[in-house]
Amino acid sequence: MNRKVTKAVFPVAGMGTRFLPATKSIPKEIMTLVDRPLIQYAIDEARDAGIEEFIFVTSRGKSALEDYFDAAPQLEDSLQKKGKTDLLAELKRTDMPSGAIAYVRQREALGLGHAVWCARRLIADEPFAVLLPDDVIAADKSCLHQMVEAYQETGGCMVAAMEVPNDKVSSYGVLDVNQDLGSIVSVKGMVEKPKASEAPSNLAVIGRYILNPGVLDYLDQMQVGAGGEIQLTDAIASQIKTEDGVHGYRFRGQRFDCGSKTGFLQATVAFGLARDDLGDDFRTFLTDFLELRRAAE
Ligand code: G1P
Repeated sequence: MNRKVTKAVFPVAGMGTRFLPATKSIPKEIMTLVDRPLIQYAIDEARDAGIEEFIFVTSRGKSALEDYFDAAPQLEDSLQKKGKTDLLAELKRTDMPSGAIAYVRQREALGLGHAVWCARRLIADEPFAVLLPDDVIAADKSCLHQMVEAYQETGGCMVAAMEVPNDKVSSYGVLDVNQDLGSIVSVKGMVEKPKASEAPSNLAVIGRYILNPGVLDYLDQMQVGAGGEIQLTDAIASQIKTEDGVHGYRFRGQRFDCGSKTGFLQATVAFGLARDDLGDDFRTFLTDFLELRRAAE
């Protein structure tokens, strides 16, 4: 069986209403964490994991995303002439070769499963990754890279997984664990956004997936699930009974929910502190700032 994963889907059609008014005129995925747009973190992670084809599922108002990944000859010329080689190198790192990115539109907001289904023709009959750019994961080895390695052993479908507090399970897809082998768990059920009292565990799905194309056959049926949406979780659950089944993967790394304001602020602090060029100054500022606040209380 083919276990090489070279295609990834990035569902980026959401309206980003939680970040209004910022998202009135810019896509949420262009919002910057330190100095790079959210989407860049997801792209870098995918490239690091060996992805070669990047499929964006977009919607109206997302053209800034296409421009971001396009060549910028005027800007490059001007940096070149001014001898700003560092900035030029930084700009080059965002370059995507022609043909590497494809865009398909999700015409109606019918759910994450539907967004992935919109990419079906480009995915064709191959295993593929899905990355939700809202979930930003800081890790020594990127989360998707870890999963691609684990997937060589398991095949089937694999979802990133993480324990969350019981009162938060209703925001996630939740795994019903069959066998817990530590970093890999085999899954016997999945529920999208269960009530805390009905959740099978507190092991939540985080936005990194490696899926087999069988998921698309389920999505073809357009079955509506939790919240009246076509859910990716349900499509993955349909694969549990297949030969290789579904596995959860507890990744090593820290995940930030950049779909929420608090998570975005936390990620900004963590990524700012981790930067060689900014970390020391930023740490001093934060320490002084907190001390002053404490003294004033
Ligand atoms: C989506 C998925 C959910 C998953 C979550 C991870 O939900 O539907 O299963 O746990 O991403 O971030 P959303 O956050 O889009 O509501």
